[in-house]
Amino acid sequence: MHFDSKLPDVGTTIFTVMSRRALDENALNIGQGFPDYPVDPRLSQALVDVIAEGRNQYAPMEGVVELRAEIARKLETCYAQRFDPQTEITVTCGGTEALYDAIQAVVRAGDEVIIFEPAYDAYEPAVRLAGGRAIAIPLAPPRFGYDWDRVAAALSPRTRLIIINSPQNPSCSVADAADLDALAALLRDRPISVLADEVYEHVLYDGRRHASVLAHPELRLRSFAVFSFGKTLHATGWRVGYCIAPPDMTRELRRVHQFNTFSIASPLQHAIARYLTRHPDAWRGLADFFQAKRDLLAARLAGSGFEPVPSAGTYFQLVDYSALSGATDIDFADRLIREAKVATIPLSPFYKNPPSMSLLRLCIAKRDDTLEQAAAQLRAFAARI
Ligand SMILES: Cc1ncc(COP(=O)(O)O)c(C=O)c1O
Repeated sequence: MHFDSKLPDVGTTIFTVMSRRALDENALNIGQGFPDYPVDPRLSQALVDVIAEGRNQYAPMEGVVELRAEIARKLETCYAQRFDPQTEITVTCGGTEALYDAIQAVVRAGDEVIIFEPAYDAYEPAVRLAGGRAIAIPLAPPRFGYDWDRVAAALSPRTRLIIINSPQNPSCSVADAADLDALAALLRDRPISVLADEVYEHVLYDGRRHASVLAHPELRLRSFAVFSFGKTLHATGWRVGYCIAPPDMTRELRRVHQFNTFSIASPLQHAIARYLTRHPDAWRGLADFFQAKRDLLAARLAGSGFEPVPSAGTYFQLVDYSALSGATDIDFADRLIREAKVATIPLSPFYKNPPSMSLLRLCIAKRDDTLEQAAAQLRAFAARI
């Protein structure tokens, strides 16, 4: 039988490709974004406890009550806004499911969705599966800022959704309050929703504060905001995230969610709820924790030819290798795996039509000794070539 792919041009993600290559070549993997250190032992103990207590059957579709209550409390602490756990908070399978559900809930055949490139890779395929078309607007290096005039010019009667991501993966840039005001002004009186990917909400550097759509009086009313306990609790493999949206938007999101994953692993939700009840400030200090790692890596790489580009947020750091090579980022990343035994992530796969650039993304959510070892191997490679 001839089988027609719905996503013929979608291959294995660059993260998986580079992680597999790292294994094949026995290279240090500072490409894919996951910590190589353990979660807080009090969190793992909470999981052991709730399983032993028998929290092992289906969780409610929208998320366990205790966890949604903890999420509401945390949101009030962070953004001074109250959200109703019954009608505005949905627990999802990581941030990824929340992104997918929101896109399926809103986008219809022929709709246009504005995304910003370099873009996290989960957005565009989900838009296409919904029958929509992604319109990509570049963030301009070196600062990777928004060009709101360009966004205004890209709006059309078919525009249904704008996806923003701050702090932004992979550019490590952040949107500020003026950006959100500009977005709100553009959308006023237009039937366009916002999908705000805020999974790195706590990881902003040098004293920056996160500008959440949830704290914006206009955007809050038309936004899905997506968060991830994977990032906040250093537990990417637990796959627990959540989506906040006004009641009418949450109703639609849950219609997709209930036939997508139905509900999220019950013990994981109970464990996170218990941990946050006992340690309500567990997520504080994330920015300082990662800033120290960012600074350590930047210091070790300074002058090596791998030039760190200032990172404003996320747990990544871009480096510019143009002083070392004119190769494409994919070729150069592959060479680094083979010759420096370090796996990184090239930036061009985050674009539909990549501009020529010489940037690699390094993940700083690693033990200090991993970062030091990776920097030493990169320096040694740079000195050799
Ligand atoms: C920008 C961005 N959005 C969403 C996600 C997905 O989050 P989760 O792992 O909770 O599904 C990631 C994970 O790397 C990300 O970097």
